[in-house]
Amino acid sequence: MGRSVAAIILAAGQGTRMNSTKAKVLHPVLGRPMIDYPIGVALQSGASPVALVIGHQAEEVRAHATRTFGDRVQFQVQTERLGTGHAAREGIKSLQGFDGLVLILSGDVPLLTATSLEKVLDAARQPQCTVGLLSARVSDPTGYGRIVRAGAAVARIVEHKDASPAERAISEINAGVYAVSAAFLREALADLSNDNAQGEYYLTDIIAMAIAGGHTVQAVTVDDPIEVAGANNRAQLAELETALRARINRRHMLAGVSLQDPTTTFIGPEVVIGQDTTLAPGVHLRGRTEIGRDCFIDVGAVVDDSKIGDQVRIHPYTVMEQADVRTGAVAGPFARLRPGAELLEGAKVGNFVEMKKSRLGPGAKANHLTYLGDADVGEGANIGAGTITCNYDGYGKYRTEIGRNVFVGSNATLVAPVAIGDDAYVAAGSVVTEEIGPADVAFGRARQVNKPGRAPELRDRARAAAEGHKRR
Ligand code: UD1
Ligand code: CA
Repeated sequence: MGRSVAAIILAAGQGTRMNSTKAKVLHPVLGRPMIDYPIGVALQSGASPVALVIGHQAEEVRAHATRTFGDRVQFQVQTERLGTGHAAREGIKSLQGFDGLVLILSGDVPLLTATSLEKVLDAARQPQCTVGLLSARVSDPTGYGRIVRAGAAVARIVEHKDASPAERAISEINAGVYAVSAAFLREALADLSNDNAQGEYYLTDIIAMAIAGGHTVQAVTVDDPIEVAGANNRAQLAELETALRARINRRHMLAGVSLQDPTTTFIGPEVVIGQDTTLAPGVHLRGRTEIGRDCFIDVGAVVDDSKIGDQVRIHPYTVMEQADVRTGAVAGPFARLRPGAELLEGAKVGNFVEMKKSRLGPGAKANHLTYLGDADVGEGANIGAGTITCNYDGYGKYRTEIGRNVFVGSNATLVAPVAIGDDAYVAAGSVVTEEIGPADVAFGRARQVNKPGRAPELRDRARAAAEGHKRR
């Protein structure tokens, strides 16, 4: 049934127990600020507009949400924290003329799923039903609002501080997630009072108001209460992060990705991984990383905002950020691929190789102890051990162009800007400051001098000098 959906997300609170100078909803969960999750699921449920009620550190929260979601999110500032009902009253100002169902959720429930939101919306779409809400059965309901039922039907919600001992024994709690028809919500919010233990406007009072007005309220219970758990302090935040990590890891495993030790594997919420790829223990995949099929990502690799093609092998302890590694390429162990590093098909970087804004052409290799900065390396080229591009002179950055099938001998120093033509050879130990033509051989080093039979004399002199030094 096609009633349109809008959302109000309550996020004006301070989150005092985080003991932080940062707003609670900006604390990261698996690398993304907490607020991104409720906004994300609301958008996934088709909500438009999404109104975010901000207050504590309003400008920081607004700036972040605008950067991340653009004009899909609107803002209402709640200047005084007078309760969830008051916050919703601010939020609904963004929904003028809206006549569908309003989802209301809190900014601090990062594990809430779009599936559960869908169930609450479905409940609210039942004939005569005006309010759908999410509940959970928990072993320790302390602090939460309790769902009071009359027979099977929901009658009202009572806050912990206002509850009688009998009500406090109820283990079904209010998750703080609702779907409410806009027309009813407008009237009910206008009629709220703050006559209760906390002197606040309780959003939860709209339940009893709905019943009194002859509407029906439907509660949907979540299967796993972790879905609606809030993060009030950093210990709870860590628990939520662990739970979310397990959920994400499981999703990838069920989709065909092998995790050798899921408990030590970190996969960010936006990461994409292809079938039959294996992740060894301690792998961290962050940001918008995309990995193809049949890859092996070995122990301790940290991959941030990078693209990895199919059949790529990443050896242990490789670190990459904004890198692009194509099909069949190999990196590490201990490789460092910085922003703009590109390994084309079948290219290889080995241990202690650092790359930045540099491209290794198809099948090209830099296997040991090398720095490639602002360099373009042609197909099939071989960069010898210890080769360094000198791309920076203290003021500007310059490029090094290396052609196809070039052989750069060990410990070459390539002083940019400089170009080396296809099929050229650079002798080991060369300092290259001038362009090298195609198929040329360049020697950029002092000529070797041999002194026949002079070693004994050198030894005698060295020994005498050392003894003289000791006597002093
Ligand atoms: C609320 C519910 C409670 C439910 C619990 C679930 C009410 C009265 N109670 O209680 O039944 O079990 O959530 O977690 O609604 N906020 C504002 N402005 C305010 C007050 C709160 O924006 O003036 C925001 C907070 O930032 C937070 C959300 O509303 O994101 C919930 O507020 P919180 O104070 O955590 O409500 P609880 O007391 O936990
Ligand atoms: Ca709360």
